[in-house]
Amino acid sequence: MNQQLQRLKTQARKNGIPVIFDDGLKLLCDTVIATNAKTILEIGTAVGTSAMAMASLSPDITIDTYEIDSDRYHQAVENIHELGFDHQINVVHQNILEALISRKYDLIFMDGAKNHYYDYMVHTIDHIQPYGCYVIDNLNFHGIVDDPTLTHNRSTVQLVHKIKRFRHWITTNDMLNTVLYDKIGDGIAIVWLKDKTRIFETKEYGL
Ligand SMILES: C[S@@+](CC[C@H](N)C(=O)[O-])C[C@H]1O[C@@H](n2cnc3c(N)ncnc32)[C@H](O)[C@@H]1O
Repeated sequence: MNQQLQRLKTQARKNGIPVIFDDGLKLLCDTVIATNAKTILEIGTAVGTSAMAMASLSPDITIDTYEIDSDRYHQAVENIHELGFDHQINVVHQNILEALISRKYDLIFMDGAKNHYYDYMVHTIDHIQPYGCYVIDNLNFHGIVDDPTLTHNRSTVQLVHKIKRFRHWITTNDMLNTVLYDKIGDGIAIVWLKDKTRIFETKEYGL
């Protein structure tokens, strides 16, 4: 990864912007390479660092990345322009759940609001290639999912409960092939679809 990108990542973390951990980013990039993904949808741009890391893997890779927050969107557009990735990365300032998606993607990186992961999957399922996969970050939520005593904040407790149910759902759903890397990053899953018409039949998620 080039030095400018590394610098942006460090700066983002200093400013409290939640960018993916380095080992999680490596797994994401390894997955892009291993699956030969060329069209990527990213949910949650922040300031563009993960999108640029993926784009830097090959000039053939194109990425649509959605960011709901106005300041972050503008910062991402500026960063992407500065590092010369405009021709590969299309940043959209929109809530992904309100977006009319018209393409199909080889890989979907889910890194938006953790309480909406299930909704993101429902919303994007028709836009992933049959051979494509999801990469999903923050399934441990800083260790709190497995050790709820780490927080007493009511909304965090509810959030981690929802992440735990989603994690259980993707790892037990017979229509999905999920590999969970719980020691990498903040807990990352790679999910392939077996039969997408039947994925949401499993009601265990209990929404
Ligand atoms: C963890 S950060 C993304 C980090 C980025 N992928 C990286 O590693 O450099 C999550 C981002 O998702 C954005 N977000 C949350 N909900 C969203 C939604 N429904 N649609 C688009 N963006 C969303 C947040 O504003 C936030 O900037």
